[in-house]
Amino acid sequence: MPLVGTGEIVAPAARGGYGVGAFNVIQLEHAEAIVTGAEAAGVPVVLQISENAVRYHGGLAPVGGAALAVARAAAVPVAVHLDHATEPALVAEAVRLGFGSVMFDASALPYAQNVRATAEVAGLCHASDVWVEAELGEVGGKDGVHAPGARTDPAEAAEFTARTGVDALAVAVGTSHAMLTRTAKLDLGLVAALRAAVPVPLVLHGSSGASDETLARAVAHGMTKVNIATHLNQAFTAAVRDRLASEPALVDTRTYLGAGREAVAREVAHLLGVLTAPRPAVATP
Ligand code: G3H
Ligand code: ZN
Repeated sequence: MPLVGTGEIVAPAARGGYGVGAFNVIQLEHAEAIVTGAEAAGVPVVLQISENAVRYHGGLAPVGGAALAVARAAAVPVAVHLDHATEPALVAEAVRLGFGSVMFDASALPYAQNVRATAEVAGLCHASDVWVEAELGEVGGKDGVHAPGARTDPAEAAEFTARTGVDALAVAVGTSHAMLTRTAKLDLGLVAALRAAVPVPLVLHGSSGASDETLARAVAHGMTKVNIATHLNQAFTAAVRDRLASEPALVDTRTYLGAGREAVAREVAHLLGVLTAPRPAVATP
């Protein structure tokens, strides 16, 4: 029962004006920590696995199967999502495994090709009741390049959504992937304009670069699904580093990975509190 479709978590949040935390899983410990954090906060959560993480593990089934098992045992609703997939075959595998949603990322393609490829994948996913996210206006930085200048045009976003039939849209509004400082300046006016123009929930990528205050304001301006990866890895790695430094004779991997897992769970609970705190919505233009 706690494994739910992503739309069952994101749609009520979009209607209610609060955010959904979508956190990336690389190791099993990430999945366990994210669910523990969500249980502590008492809110639903999305576990997401990127194509890069699939490459790291040499396949989707081992890491995807682990995330699905952790989700099924959770005490709060949990969805499992394939993140930044560029290969339709990987999307098809996620559907077969029982993922609740996929992000098909053709944002690096020219607009017309992005529309064509995304519409085709959306049709296949919808035939299996799988929720689809796509991206328009490439969010920079996936390969370590800091490129926060990209912006999504609201009129183009509305047309893209109508032509592809996607269920959610990732937009470029000032964040960039893999930032190590929470200093991103978001174009909140653009978030509100996109919210007004686009009939499906909006997704913020590269959210590690946004401070708590900026995340809260992004949600108040109309952002719903908030993707965070690097910030959790910073918490994980700092805790592991501290543990190994304070006890250099440690051998059992559970001792230091467990410290990382606890740090991530604490941060997830905190971030979910930030994203779901009641606040007045900002009027759309
Ligand atoms: O799709 C995943 C996210 O956009 C995560 O980005 O590592 O900058 O938080 P981040
Ligand atoms: Zn992303």
